[in-house]
Formats: sequence, C-alpha cells, structure tokens
Amino acid sequence: MSGKLTVVGLGPGSPEQMTPEALAAVADAGDFFGYFPYIDRLDLRPDQRRHASDNREELARARAAIEMAAKGGKVCVVSGGDPGVFAMAAAVCEAIDEGPAEWRDIDFSVVPGVTAMLAVAAKAGAPLGHDFCAISLSNNLKPWDLIEKRLIAAAEAGFVMAFYNPVSKARPHQLGDAFALLRRHLPGEVPVIFGRAAGRPDEAIRIVPLSQAESGMADMATCVIVGTAETKLIERDGRRPLVYSPRYFKGAGA
Ligand SMILES: C[S@@+](CC[C@H](N)C(=O)[O-])C[C@H]1O[C@@H](n2cnc3c(N)ncnc32)[C@H](O)[C@@H]1O
Repeated sequence: MSGKLTVVGLGPGSPEQMTPEALAAVADAGDFFGYFPYIDRLDLRPDQRRHASDNREELARARAAIEMAAKGGKVCVVSGGDPGVFAMAAAVCEAIDEGPAEWRDIDFSVVPGVTAMLAVAAKAGAPLGHDFCAISLSNNLKPWDLIEKRLIAAAEAGFVMAFYNPVSKARPHQLGDAFALLRRHLPGEVPVIFGRAAGRPDEAIRIVPLSQAESGMADMATCVIVGTAETKLIERDGRRPLVYSPRYFKGAGA
C-alpha cells in the first residue's frame, strides 16, 4: 500500500505568507516531519502527529518520512520558505534516488513557498529587479574555495546576490570573508540589505553600502542581498530608503 508524501514550503514566517496550496496540503496530512521551529509553526489538529528533529538530520528525516508514506501514511515534510531552496525537497529526492525502487512509486509532490530572498527583497523595494543568483554561504556541503569562485564569478557577471546561511556559531568568519572578497570586485557604494526574520514579529531590515557591511550585522535568521554597480538607492525622508535594480541595462536592445 502506498501513501502520499508532500514536501511543503511554509513561507518565511508570517501565516499570511503561506499559500492556500500549502494550507490545504497541511490539512490533508496526518504525519509531519521537519526541523523543530518549522513544526512548531503548524496549528495541527489532535489527530495529526508531529515528528520534529534537529536541522542536521535532514537525510534521516527524509528517509523516515518516505518509509511512513511507503506504508500508506499521508505524510508532510515541512521547510521554511520554499522547500526547494537549500531545504528538504532536495534531501527527499536524494533519499528516493538512493533508496529502494518501490520508493519511486510513492505519490510525491512539492508545494512551493515564498523564499527568504523574495520576502526580504519585497521589504527593500526591488533589488532583484534585474538578473540575480542565490548562494548559500554554508561550507558544510561544499568547499569554501568553490563558494569564493562563485562569489567572484557572480560579481564579475553583474548578478545581484542573495546569501542564505550567512553565518552560524560554527561558521563565524564566512560572511566577513565574502564581503572582503567582494570589495575587491565591486564598488564600495553597492547597497547591501540585511533582512532578518522577514515576515516575523522580530523582523529587522538594514541597508548599508558594501564598504560598511560587516558580518556582525547578520545572524542565522538573516538573508543578505548584495546589489550590483547598477543597483540604486532612493533616499526618503523619515522612511527606509528604497533599493532597486533597474530592469534595463546599458546597450539594451542592441
Ligand atoms: C537552510 S536555509 C533555508 C531557506 C528556506 N528554504 C527558504 O526558502 O527561505 C536557512 C536560511 O534562510 C534564510 N532565511 C530563512 N527564513 C528567513 C527569514 N524569515 N528572513 C530572512 N532570512 C531567512 C537565512 O539566510 C537562513 O540562514
């Protein structure tokens, strides 16, 4: 008997930023797997069961959820933001890829969510209005020298960059090193947005030029957006400046 496995994005934090499709998937499932704080966000019925775990146990969590679905359960794996962005959807696919052939027959789907960079960008204006990329600064799953290569390539190609996992207690130096590297490839005036806990009650948005950006301005709940030489700042009296990346680039249409 095969059940159903849905990987659901809960959005950045506020219930208003959860999609109707995500709400329906949660209402339809009986068992919920995920990192503690995401499971804690769910308002579950008495007949729905929580299986919360630590965020370092992603593959084990994915396998446990698939096994339950393979036995006929209606199972939901939850992620903050979008589950396909540095989150559980890839871990579940990896487990299916490496697992027994019958796991491929499970009714599996992914429900997208509002990812952190979109929530932060919306608070700042339109910094992602032109071409952009997302980079996780965590070197848990890839070497730091590869991250440095990607930072330089993105800066030289003119991509706005959104940094996920910018710092943690175990990785205190990465963000400072990334800023030092970028200062060698981008003008000091490039706007940097520190978007902390976007969509949550403790949300904080700070905008500084790259020349003044420091790793202490971010924590694990921060998504950092670094503009390009074209990204503009609109100063406003008594309000946070607006940051936007113009849609057009010199030479457009040529
Ligand atoms: C493991 S990644 C998961 C990303 C998530 N799947 C998403 O789509 O937003 C965790 C990182 O996402 C970013 N993040 C998650 N929620 C955030 C929020 N509400 N505000 C700002 N950044 C957030 C932070 O950079 C954090 O270190």
